[in-house]
Amino acid sequence: TTGHITLDDGYANTGSCTSSVTFLDGDNGILRYRGYPIEELAAGCDFIEVAHLLIYGELPNAKQLEDFKNSIRRHTMIHEEMRAFYNGFPRDAHPMAILSSVVSALSTFYQDSLDPIDPRQVEVSIHRLLAKLPTIAAYSYKKSAGQPFIYPQNDLSYCENFLQMMFAVPCEPYEIDADAVAALNLLLIVHADHEQNCSTSTVRMVGSSNANLFASISAGISALWGPLHGGANEAVVLMLERIIQEGGDVSKFVNMAKDKKSNFRLMGFGHRVYKNFDPRCKIIKQACDKLLAKLSVSDPLFDVAQQLEQVALSDEYFIERKLYPNVDFYSGVIYRALGIPVQMFTVLFAMGRLPGWIAHWVEMHRSPTKRIYRPRQIYTGPTQRKFQPIEKR
Ligand code: SDX
Repeated sequence: TTGHITLDDGYANTGSCTSSVTFLDGDNGILRYRGYPIEELAAGCDFIEVAHLLIYGELPNAKQLEDFKNSIRRHTMIHEEMRAFYNGFPRDAHPMAILSSVVSALSTFYQDSLDPIDPRQVEVSIHRLLAKLPTIAAYSYKKSAGQPFIYPQNDLSYCENFLQMMFAVPCEPYEIDADAVAALNLLLIVHADHEQNCSTSTVRMVGSSNANLFASISAGISALWGPLHGGANEAVVLMLERIIQEGGDVSKFVNMAKDKKSNFRLMGFGHRVYKNFDPRCKIIKQACDKLLAKLSVSDPLFDVAQQLEQVALSDEYFIERKLYPNVDFYSGVIYRALGIPVQMFTVLFAMGRLPGWIAHWVEMHRSPTKRIYRPRQIYTGPTQRKFQPIEKR
């Protein structure tokens, strides 16, 4: 038996820990960052404000926000020699592979901010990561597009800067689209944290060994990449495109998802915690409607997604198992409307989740019961056996 292990081992030996960052109520579809409902933050904040709330525990006043933004602005460029990494990746390298590699490599260029115990070094590494992740992400897209890297512009907001690094080209003027900026800001906010999900638990686990913040976040990026986790947003769009290519019969795919032998799941459906609805999905779906109407574009994927949701939610199999659309189900429709290529969807998820990962990493380090995570197991292997030399096997 594993014996009785108390919660305040801070996950050291159990699969759960105490945290004050985010509250989830899966039965009632409630999500709050540091006590503030996600709906109010999504409607009233900018992403850096929410990042401040998650990391420092409070919504900033105007001066605190300006100071935070100014400090981040000072770190938006990456060391020029880091650009050489991009030449080493194949042109079709998945940007999540590039992101986790280059984020880990930050620890080789910024060795003056690696100590996870020194508060000043931790503060610098937090601001460096928040500032550089969009740059690293945009450069991974430019590499795949065969276009020149576009430097950050510090007179722009966080979201404006990312979009111009993604889509500006030296030979054309680039116009910031306010609707696109607002949609990206909302998406980053609703992705910013989500309690002890797979990637956040990974960041806490890796950080508990006193690995530096860059290495811990790189591990979180790798965990997020999985199609059962953050990679689902890319998988949803590939699934919707497949449904359209195969004639648009959503019932066929709903039935396939019910057939265990098919090994097919409706991507963007289901959640370990939400057994009613994912509040983020509601917010994103409303934003889809608004953005597509504003851009006066109709996206066949959005139409198919809504049909799929309707058919699935009236089917016993999904109702019995409480499988509802999650955060990944509609987010891809907005990313497409912004011109973001599908391989970059999970990268955007990582950009949104970064402040949450950082908040949990800091909280884990500050816990009075902080210890290296070392979950135990129930051993099911063979009992002791007698060794036989190879000539006797
Ligand atoms: C995220 O944890 C977080 O908070 C994650 C996240 C975050 O913000 O960090 O919210 C982000 O990762 C959202 C989830 C994105 N993943 C997907 O959309 C992939 C598709 N969904 C699943 O594979 C699944 O629903 C999970 C991974 C999300 C949850 O898996 P669970 O809780 O382990 O559920 P399960 O695999 O035990 O399934 C329970 C039953 C099974 O059927 P039975 O064995 O009871 O007959 O439901 C079925 C499953 O086969 N099922 C599905 C299904 N999801 C579960 N059947 C068809 N399609 C699906 N999508």
